[in-house]
Amino acid sequence: MNRKYRKTIIAGNWKMNKTASETAAFANEIKPMLPKNPGCEMLLCMPAVNIPAAQKAFKGSKIRIGAETMHYEASGAFTGEVAAGMLTDIGVKYVIIGHSERRQYYGETDLTVNKKVRAALDAGLTPIVCVGESLEQRELGVTDELLAYQVMTALSGVSSQELRHVVIAYEPIWAIGTGKTATSEQAQEVCGNIRTLLRKSNDARTARAVSILYGGSMNAKNAAELLRMPDIDGGLIGGASLKTADFVTIIEAAAAVEA
Ligand code: PGA
Repeated sequence: MNRKYRKTIIAGNWKMNKTASETAAFANEIKPMLPKNPGCEMLLCMPAVNIPAAQKAFKGSKIRIGAETMHYEASGAFTGEVAAGMLTDIGVKYVIIGHSERRQYYGETDLTVNKKVRAALDAGLTPIVCVGESLEQRELGVTDELLAYQVMTALSGVSSQELRHVVIAYEPIWAIGTGKTATSEQAQEVCGNIRTLLRKSNDARTARAVSILYGGSMNAKNAAELLRMPDIDGGLIGGASLKTADFVTIIEAAAAVEA
């Protein structure tokens, strides 16, 4: 991480877990455990239906509440979907876009990810854009090419000014929910390559201002080592963000890194 140039962000991705009441109980438990000056943005992304209850429950803490997905259209006949304007209207600032589970189970593609990034930025939301390779792709040796394609497609039409409001999350699919974390060197290499790509496609000042997160079995034990890497500016954390003690340990790990 590098706090001089960009934000450190510790973001939970709750996926389809916790009811509104369980969310409130989590908030009450974690609030007294949080460091006063964490030096990072703390965020929990959760199912849209639980966001208002969470905002109420986390009031008075520095934890922000984000969404896990959204549609790219502003309104219309899209049964079950949530529009960017609906999120901003209730005070949401962050939304995860293109998580590998959305790509795998709900047919999201790099092209729909790009439309969603556009819609999020137009609405004033900060998209957390997820990219990452499968195990087969890593073994074939095409990780760099694939990631470059994913990032460039997701960001097509995004200006340098807008890019400063985009967060990228590198999440190798083989590390998500498997307990198999990328080594800090592997994660740093890909995050560093993403930054180099942003430098080439934009400019050095913009590239150094973009927060790039790592996600994939980040936990209380391995967070400190990952967060010490120069191009890893935080984490997108699934399983470990569901437990107050583990999530706080990761926040403390971020706070402890000298940057
Ligand atoms: P995990 O999930 O931490 O449980 O591996 C990360 C993610 O899917 O964002």
